[in-house]
Amino acid sequence: MKLDAIKIIDLPKILDDRGNLSFFQNEEHIPFKIQRAYWIYDVPGGEHRGGHAYKDLQEVIIALSGSFDVVIDDGFEKKTITLNRSYNALYIPKMIWRRLENFSTNSLAFIVTDKMYDADQYIRDYGQYLEMKNDGKGE
Ligand code: TYD
Repeated sequence: MKLDAIKIIDLPKILDDRGNLSFFQNEEHIPFKIQRAYWIYDVPGGEHRGGHAYKDLQEVIIALSGSFDVVIDDGFEKKTITLNRSYNALYIPKMIWRRLENFSTNSLAFIVTDKMYDADQYIRDYGQYLEMKNDGKGE
């Protein structure tokens, strides 16, 4: 997978004087069937999360509150995407190295994936990730 497979999905935004509302529903806005949701919160200043790739797992990341950066890397190219709108969803396919950093105070990262949690999905060693990319594993 290359960085050009990554995209920001503009979620529906229902503007209202009483407060705004956004949503997503399976396959209409998210390009896969959701199997799992998790969230990352109370991140101390200067900490980062992630720093791995998934062998065969797609995900969508939303900054429900506050802001943080997602550093994405396909082994050839690296890019930083700042998420700071609760109606922007970042789609990341499998075999992309990604790291979440620069969390603002009280930020909330919400993540949905197409697979249940499985520790075997993780590639945690960057050298191994590059080797797998060079071998054409997982594209
Ligand atoms: P991990 O994905 O390694 O977090 P990060 O990459 O941000 O450092 O998850 C941290 C721990 O939480 C790990 O022990 C596994 C557990 N975990 C679950 O049990 N279920 C989940 O859905 C996730 C994402 C993590």
